Amino acid sequence: MQKNDDGTITIGVGLISVGWMGQLHSRAYSNLRYVYPELGIRPRLVHAADTAPARATEAVEVLGYERASADYHEVLNDPEVDVVSICAPNFLHAEIAVAAAKAGKHFWVEKPVGRGEDETRAVSEAAAEAGVVSSIGFNYRHAPAIEHLKKLIADGELGRITNVRGNMFADYSADPRGALSWRFIRNLAGSGVLGDLMGHLVDLVQYTLGPIAEVSAITSTVYTERPELPMGSGTHFAVIENGEMKPVENEDYAGMLVRLSGNAVAADAVGTLEASRVAVGPRASYGIEIYGTNGSAHWDFERMNELHISSGLGAAHQGYTRVMASPGMGDFGLFQPGAGTSMGYDDLKVIEAKKFLEAVAGRAALNSNIQDALSASQVISAAERSAAERRWESSAPVAGTTAAIAD
Ligand SMILES: NC(=O)c1ccc[n+]([C@@H]2O[C@H](COP(=O)([O-])OP(=O)(O)OC[C@H]3O[C@@H](n4cnc5c(N)ncnc54)[C@H](O)[C@@H]3O)[C@@H](O)[C@H]2O)c1
Repeated sequence: MQKNDDGTITIGVGLISVGWMGQLHSRAYSNLRYVYPELGIRPRLVHAADTAPARATEAVEVLGYERASADYHEVLNDPEVDVVSICAPNFLHAEIAVAAAKAGKHFWVEKPVGRGEDETRAVSEAAAEAGVVSSIGFNYRHAPAIEHLKKLIADGELGRITNVRGNMFADYSADPRGALSWRFIRNLAGSGVLGDLMGHLVDLVQYTLGPIAEVSAITSTVYTERPELPMGSGTHFAVIENGEMKPVENEDYAGMLVRLSGNAVAADAVGTLEASRVAVGPRASYGIEIYGTNGSAHWDFERMNELHISSGLGAAHQGYTRVMASPGMGDFGLFQPGAGTSMGYDDLKVIEAKKFLEAVAGRAALNSNIQDALSASQVISAAERSAAERRWESSAPVAGTTAAIAD
């Protein structure tokens, strides 16, 4: 990190893997200067790595990195890199994050952090030992409507929270010709939709309502074979005609009953959470409905800028009011001057980049952190055990999560 004459700080950025997320992290860093001109933090895109040569080249020629390598160790050994974005497939997350921490690099790692609870705990311990800042790709929590909802809940506007219903329904693999990317292979991904989408939902629940303590889960695999997609090509949305069929090794659908230990207003809350990567109809319907003794609220990522809030018990007009995200809710006002002019998915990553770099610069730690990821991974691992054993499983409290900080 370098302090400049004008009082700004330059932070050297390394990127590991230049797929969908690697490109998005890079755009997020680059957009900080436009969205947050007063931030005083200047990310400098220094060094990217990808084993696919075309993607390494793209990092320099399109995204603006100063240099690129095939081996991620080159990024971690680069003295001009202060922070590293880890956007590799899941099986590399823990290995790279532990190596980043040992190299003294703060890291922003995509979810899920590793292939389960054990790998996530190893990253948590390495980060704590090295004293580095961590941030997790739990982007949905930054949506201004979600930040507003979290505040409504904490302020007691919905009363005592009784139950939550959530879904992460995507159609990216609804077509049986949908590609067998690394996401479907257990050794490369860990769990299927549990790690890929349910983890986001668990984070949203824990961010707004506090910890999930118990889980009873079921899972199913709808398509047991898919056409293979080589690593480093295409995306997991790809549809392949006449490809070689290989087995799908993890679940397409997961459902869970949950019991929360919760925060101050949600201590006895229960709920149902579902995730699917083969839903037909919903495109990216990532929804959360929260019910309390004095009202309720609904949010869905497909309409990210809307929140539906009940009028409250005893109000003249019972039912839901459609509230548009607007300046004053989260960081909305930094992106758009007025309600109705919508923010999008990429903007959530700009907010995530800002929170990460502010924490790295020693300012307020508003970022998600590795303890949030550990907590979510414990719930996901409990769900996997529950589905396999057909019984309730518990998830122990985790210290240092941002849900705990907010309490
Ligand atoms: N937060 C979110 O909403 C969100 C959305 C999509 C993906 N993700 C997560 O981001 C991660 C990456 O997903 P993606 O969709 O960008 O994947 P992708 O398949 O588009 O890209 C992965 C990249 O990793 C590269 N790679 C493979 N092995 C490597 C190695 N040894 N060293 C360096 N690079 C290597 C590949 O060549 C490829 O370019 C996953 O963990 C995924 O779960 C998060």
